[in-house]
Order: sequence, then C-alpha cells, then structure tokens
Amino acid sequence: MCGIVGVVGNPNATDILIQGLEKLEYRGYDSAGIFVTDDENGQLVKAVGRIADLAEKVGDKVAGTAGIGHTRWATHGKPSEDNAHPHTSQTGRFVLVHNGVIENYLQMKETYLSGHQLKGQTDTEIAVHLIGKFVEEDGLTVLDAFKKALHIIEGSYAFALIDSENPDTIYVAKNKSPLLIGLGQGYNMVCSDAMAMIRETNQYMEIHDQELVLVTKDSVEVQDYNGHTVEREAYTAELDLSDIGKGTYPFYMLKEIDEQPTVMRKLINTYADENGKMTVDPQIVKAVQEADRIYILAAGTSYNAGFASKAMLEALTDTPVELGVASEWGYNMPLLSKKPLFILLTQSGETADSRQVLVKANEMGIPSLTITNVPGSTLSREATYTMLLHAGPEIAVASTKAYTAQVAALAFLAKAVGEANSKQEALDFDLVHELSIVAQAIEATLSEKDLIAEKVQQLLSTTRNAFYIGRGIDYYVTMEAALKLKEISYIQCEGFAAGELKHGTISLIEDNTPVIALISTNEKIAAHTRGNIAEVVSRGANALVVVEEDLAREGDDIIVNKVHPFLTTIAMVIPTQLIAYYASLQRGLDVDKPRNLAKAVTVE
Ligand code: F6R
Repeated sequence: MCGIVGVVGNPNATDILIQGLEKLEYRGYDSAGIFVTDDENGQLVKAVGRIADLAEKVGDKVAGTAGIGHTRWATHGKPSEDNAHPHTSQTGRFVLVHNGVIENYLQMKETYLSGHQLKGQTDTEIAVHLIGKFVEEDGLTVLDAFKKALHIIEGSYAFALIDSENPDTIYVAKNKSPLLIGLGQGYNMVCSDAMAMIRETNQYMEIHDQELVLVTKDSVEVQDYNGHTVEREAYTAELDLSDIGKGTYPFYMLKEIDEQPTVMRKLINTYADENGKMTVDPQIVKAVQEADRIYILAAGTSYNAGFASKAMLEALTDTPVELGVASEWGYNMPLLSKKPLFILLTQSGETADSRQVLVKANEMGIPSLTITNVPGSTLSREATYTMLLHAGPEIAVASTKAYTAQVAALAFLAKAVGEANSKQEALDFDLVHELSIVAQAIEATLSEKDLIAEKVQQLLSTTRNAFYIGRGIDYYVTMEAALKLKEISYIQCEGFAAGELKHGTISLIEDNTPVIALISTNEKIAAHTRGNIAEVVSRGANALVVVEEDLAREGDDIIVNKVHPFLTTIAMVIPTQLIAYYASLQRGLDVDKPRNLAKAVTVE
C-alpha cells in the first residue's frame, strides 16, 4: 500500500528511485511516479499501471541528483496520472509524495485554498498546495510552512517534500505511516521500508510519529514539530540482498511456499538451544503467565494463524485465548478480563488496523506482545514485547510462510510458558523434534506439486465459486485456505465448519460445485467430515479430499504426512497454499500481485 522512496546527493537518483519502487511493488499499487532534479531542472513522470510502464516513460532522458518517487494504492480518487504522486503545488515549485489518509483535507481546501486549481481528487495534492501557499503567498520559510501544515493536517501520513528551487534537502515527516531514513556514502535516502534501499545501504534511522526530518546529502536532522532537535542513532538492518530476489522462481509466492521448511528450522535455531531448551525471552513468558486471558488481535491471514494456534496455546498455557478482528477492536473493544495480554500477530508490523488496537491497549495500560516478521516495524516498537518470525522478507502479497511461522512461533511461546508452569503436557511435547517432522512433512507435500497442479486443473479451472470444509482445527485451516484461494484466483470461496453447511449454506451446492475437504486430527472427526462430504457429493458437488496419512482412504486426493496434533495446522495449510497458487497460475493471473490488494495495509 503506497510506497515512498527519495534520494538526495546521488547522480544516479533516477535509477535509485526506479529500483526502489520496484522493491516496493510487493506492497500493492495501481500507479506510480517520480520527480528528479539536477538543481536546475526538475522532471516529473507518472504512469498508471506497473513500474515497468513508468520506467519505459522515464527512459534515459530523466537524470538528476535528487528526487522522490511513489507507488500509489488509490484511496481518494481513481487510479490516474492526475491522481498519481508526486503532486505539485499551485506554481509547481513544491513536489510531494504521501502515504496515508489525510482526514481533514476538504476542510483544508475550503479554509486555505480558494482560487487554487487542483488537477486531481487526492488529499495529497491539497497538502502540497497548502505548503506552497504558506511559502509563496504568506511568505513563510519552507521549514516553517511545512511545520505549519503538519500542525493543521489530521490523519495518517508519511511525507517526502522537495522544494525544486532548493533541491538539496528532502523534508520528511510521519504520523502513523511507515518511513525510514537510509544512510548512504555521500548521499542519503528515505523509504517506506528498508528493502527499497537495501541495494544501497544497510544503515537506517527510524523516524517516530510526529517527527520532522531534514535530509541532505551529508546530514540528517530529526526535530519534533516544535523545532526541538531529537538525537537518533542509526541501526544496521539484518536484510540480505539475496533474500529479496526471485531467483529462478516464476513468482515470489512459490519461492516463499518452498522456503517454509527452512523457516521452521530457523525458528528452531532461534527459539531453542542445542539441548532443545526454550530460549524465548523470559519476560515474555512471565507476561503470559501473569495474564488471565490472551487476546490475539490481527487481520486476514495473521488472524487465521491466531485461530490455527488457539487450541495449542490453550492446552499448553492453561489460559483462555480469544481472537479479535483488529479493524473491529480498534473501535469496539469488548469487555476484557481482569489481566489481559494482547498479542498482535502481524507479518508486516505495519498494519494500521492492528496498530489502532495497540494504541488503545497502550492507553489502557494493557501489556502487549507483537509477533512480527519485520524488526523495527511500528508495532514492534510500540508494543511492550516483540517476538520475531525470522521468515525472511515476504514479497508476494498472499502471505504463506508468515502464517506457518506465526503458528510455529506461538508454539515456542506456548511450550515455554507450559514448561515454566511445570505442565506435564508441555514437558512431554518435544517441540524441536516435532517441528523438524513438520519441516519434513512440508517437504513431502512440496514434492507433490505436479499432482496438486493436476487436481486443481480438474477441479477449479472454470469455476466461479468453491468451498473448503473441515471440523475442529481443520475448520480454522479452511478459513485461511479460502482466503488464499479467493485473493489470488478470484474464485469466490468460503471456509466452512463442515457440520454447519447443512444449516443453510448447503443450498448453494449444485452440480460440479467444488468442495475441498480437509481431514486431520482423529478418526471421530474424520468420520463426521466424511459424512459431510457424502452430503455434498450426493447433491452434485465435486469433492477433493486433503487428508492426514493415518486417516486416508482409497481414492483420497492429497495425502499429508502425520505430524503432532498441535502442529497439524501448519502441515495441512501447505496443500491449500499450492492449490491457490496453481488456481491463479492456471488462470493466467499475476500470482504475486492480485488486483486491489496491498502487502502492507497502512490505512484503516
Ligand atoms: C493475505 C494477507 C493479508 C494479511 C493482512 C494482515 O494473504 O497477507 O490478509 O495477513 O493484511 O497483514 P499483517 O500480517 O502484515 O498485519
């Protein structure tokens, strides 16, 4: 969702911006643009569509030492060149890119901008007109004009501003939207996330909410909105450039699905020592021990990962676990227990809905733990505690390895808490061993790609809708399986508790409706789900059965290796990830960049 890059003091500004925008593509966008200047002449180029389209328009005619670039995911106004960023002030002198949503933009327009000609419908264009007005009509310095605008603007934003008459400084500010400073040798950068600049540097500096930063080629000055200087140390990002390439893979999603055995092993190395002893931060363990209820707040796939971990967490910690949709809880907090602990599950660590809940939790003095893939991300910084997923960058919009890493990370936490409570079930649960079995089970499923592709071709090639059904923890996996299928193949799909189907929804089953059943756990559950499969098949459905090996019968379609029941949700989700992948691929869709979606959802 909207990405920002900026650079000052580098003669290759155009390349840095274009390559940075390519690295931000994974966040989701519908148009893009850059402004590049060489001190004298500024050039603005925008394009609807892919960065490749923008790069073609830019060609080799645009060069300079400073510039800003942006990928836009439309919120105010449709995707078009006029609405694409960078936006310019009335005279064209000031150039601005923005990520976020300005809530009072119409008020600003009415109060300050009568007589101004706006080209598009965006909130951002109004912001840059405002800054331009304060300088060119009211006589403020650029810095004072920017500060004045920041005092007026309400909402979420990351801004990068260039004064084309003095392009030696990029003016930056942020509130609730991500932005970092990247420190180069003799030049500096700004970017929405470290990956956009990892080719140039691994040295970064955080910006906190409501801070303003003046970035020149050899200095970075952080201030609060009242002009007080803030000291800030740089840090080294632990990203590896090789992590973010696609290699020989056609799509990042397939690469990331394939990486899951490695991620499981990495988590073992991170959260257990060589004797299998848990190395989870004792303070986090204590926070869970002290809680009378765990609340997991998350969105989308991360929310589904919470459900997939609930039974295991409750069994090992003896603490009830409640799930909440972050976008709801930010504004409708239900009655809480006396000693709650909030766990924010978030791959990106930047999801605005989840952050909103964390802001509330902090106001209420509730202890919180962010479990995230991105060190230094906003939710990680603002929570009481952080646990990292160590899954490596996830680029495909559809989340895969982050889901399995979340379930595995929660297993380490649950086991550590159970052990600290001397709970026999936790002491008996050899997580290191069981997770290495899971890694092997994943590898076994990955070796069945051709079979899965063929089954998908038979079942889903022309359908507009489909169902996943399952019981118990399989039901939780169906929620994720259905989300994955619909988001990248555009097949309407519902994950359903198998027994609930006959209470209404079964009326949707007709000839050839695809129904994919997930069967794991035990004979009793398996028998009931098989009963539900028979019900839909007798009404014309085409069923496909994904089953754990000990429960398999002749004619079942995809067999998954048996793993420990606490970790079944990891093993069972893998075939469903591949089903979604092949359904999208076979329809000729852009697997990694499904329409309308963004990787980091940084607006509420
Ligand atoms: C779907 C997907 C999304 C995210 C959701 C939350 O494949 O990736 O549903 O899970 O937007 O994102 P994070 O986990 O970054 O908070």
